[in-house]
Order: sequence, then C-alpha cells, then structure tokens
Amino acid sequence: MPFYHALGQIPPKRHTQFPRPADTADKTSQGSDGPFYYEQLFGTIGFDGMSSLLYHVHRPTMVREVLDSVDMTPTLAVQKNMMARKLIGFNVPPADDFIESRVPLLVNNDLIFGLAAPRQSLTEYFYKNADSDELLFVHRGSGRLRTLFGTIPFQYGDYLIIPRGVIYQIEFDTADNKLLYVESHTPIYTPKRYRNHFGQMLEHAPFCERDIIRPNVLETHDETGDFLMKIKKQGSLHSLVYASHPFDVVGWDGYNYPYGFSIFNFEPITGRVHQPPPVHQTFQTDSFVVCSFVPRLYDYHPQAIPAPYNHSNIDSDEVIYYVDGDFMSRNDIKQGHITLHPGGIPHGPAPGAMERSIGKKETQEYAVMVDTFRPLMLTEQAMAIDDGTYYKSWID
Ligand SMILES: [Fe+2]
Repeated sequence: MPFYHALGQIPPKRHTQFPRPADTADKTSQGSDGPFYYEQLFGTIGFDGMSSLLYHVHRPTMVREVLDSVDMTPTLAVQKNMMARKLIGFNVPPADDFIESRVPLLVNNDLIFGLAAPRQSLTEYFYKNADSDELLFVHRGSGRLRTLFGTIPFQYGDYLIIPRGVIYQIEFDTADNKLLYVESHTPIYTPKRYRNHFGQMLEHAPFCERDIIRPNVLETHDETGDFLMKIKKQGSLHSLVYASHPFDVVGWDGYNYPYGFSIFNFEPITGRVHQPPPVHQTFQTDSFVVCSFVPRLYDYHPQAIPAPYNHSNIDSDEVIYYVDGDFMSRNDIKQGHITLHPGGIPHGPAPGAMERSIGKKETQEYAVMVDTFRPLMLTEQAMAIDDGTYYKSWID
C-alpha cells in the first residue's frame, strides 16, 4: 500500500534493541530465545520497494523440517488463442481445501487467473505465496483473512490484496464460497495516476485511503511446536515445518501489508459521452490492470450511446468476470460468467445492445475486468467450462 500503517508495539527507533517484557524475558532466558524481540524487514523489489518492519516473539527462521513438494503448474490446453470465449464460471467444482479449490483458467508468464469454490476454512496449515501477489475477489462468502500482519474481515464484494510472502490462513463463515483469484508475478498497486508525488490518493481518484480495509486485530501467539506451512515457490507447493507459530508478531509498521477494498466503495466516473475503461481502473501491475464496473448513471449527452463502441484492444487480452446485475453490452450473460476477448481482433456490443442502450439512464452491473498486456493461454479446466460458441455471438 502507498501509505503508512502501524499495528501493535514497535520500538521508537528502527534497528534498535526492543526488549521483551521482564516476565517473558525471564522465561526465555531458560530457553533458546534471547530477551529481545526479533526484527524482520519485509520488503519488495529488493530493498527499493515498499517494506514493513515486523517484530517477532521468536526467530522467523526456525525451519524444523522440509517435507514434500507438489507441482502446481497449470496444464495448458490452448497456448495460442484467437477465439473470443465465454467460460461458465459457476461450473468450477467446489473443493474442501482452500488451495486445492483453486482452478487456474487463464495464464501467461505474468499471472494466473482462476476461480475457487472452497468449502472449508484454511486453518490446518499456514500458506504463503512466494511467487506472486494475490488478488482475491469475494463473490460469495464472508469471513476473516488471518495474517501475520493482523486480521482483515471480508464479505461479498471485497477485493483482498495479499503481497507475496504474507503468511496467512482464511476462515469462512459459510460453505458456499466463490472467489476469483489472480496470482500476479509482479506487485499489485493502486494506479499511480490516482496518487500524488507523495503517494496520497488524489481528489479525482474513484476511491481514497478511508476505503482501504487495513489489518486490525493483531494475533500474537507465543507458541513453539510443529507448525506446517505450505509455500508456493517456482510453481510448486513446498511443505515446511516451523518450530514457532507463524503469527507471533507483537507489532509492525510500514507500507507493505495485506488489505481489503470493497467494490461497493468504488465511485464511478461518468461523462456526457462514453468513458473508456481506464475510468474503471482499480489496481495496476507492470503486466495487467484490474477494473471495477459498478452501478452508475449513463452518459448524458442528448445523443449519447451508453453501450461501448467496438474496440480493438490490439495490445491486450480482456477478461471480464460478471458479478451481478444486467450487463448491458452483452446478451445471455449470467453471474459467474467470464468472457475473454483476445487482442488482435475487435469486439463490441452484442447485436441489438447498442440500440437497446439508447435512452437508458443507469446500469446496475457489477463486474471485474482484468486486461493483460500479453496474450493469455487457456488451461484444460478452462476448456471444460468453455461454451464453445461465444465467438460467433456478434452475428445476427
Ligand atoms: Fe472490451
């Protein structure tokens, strides 16, 4: 995040002695730990990116065992795609385990885009993605994202941004959960053009710092034992056993931490004539953007056409995940559907949608769009839920 946050106890100056309270220091003098808390720099882009400083009860390095590794590389079915697709997202099968429930659908060298329908909370082990920042969009379900930075409550409509390396668990209140996820190999930020030189959100931005859900309640577990952690690294899921509880942070501060943002807090930008997709932008990376389509008033020029014009996204593939409402530019689109419009060929409103939109005053649609700068490949799981006919949907 581009702004500072602190939680728990931290010493007045970084990289200085931070004594543990006398009672715990006495206890640890009999064990292997010293009388001080253990500082950890948690940074990105080497030492040049955003970072936080965390203070642990135990050393965060105490690996007891390195166990098995499982290859998580998606199985590709179509590597060179030149076909508009519609995937029926709610046909992705549910699974108990949070990680096993992830179904990769669209991938390239920059990201993995998929859906997940986890039935159970992740509490049996701890998880860390060391390859990617993660974006989770909650379509159904509510609960709590528990991390070593603190807990973030979530509900329908929330984005959760989890920087690479954040150790977390997730608790669901319900069994019918539906998530969109993106694993981004480059950091996920809020758009730079929304922020001033100092990082503050500008007045024209469609959201501001107050809309960001920062970690609150910090869990500090002073426990030793065997703690299983599954770490995704180089496309494999490695199982390691740590000798101390991963959530043993007494305090932290900095700029690099997980956070939430509700799509319901995205304030749409409208105009007299049709506004281009960048007005919907919510997040950016070096290799793709994420946009939020939300209910809004339509264009108010007396002769405006609210439906989008045909457009050639030559330099990007466009993925739209339909969340709720009546998506005005398409016919036969339902919740959970995903459309993929590959770069290189134009796409636009479905037949009749342009004419139908004229005179309409507002839309109630919710959708999440991911535009990638490099072409996407389809996995075997994507082909299993591909409707197979969407590419012909512009013919009357
Ligand atoms: Fe488009």
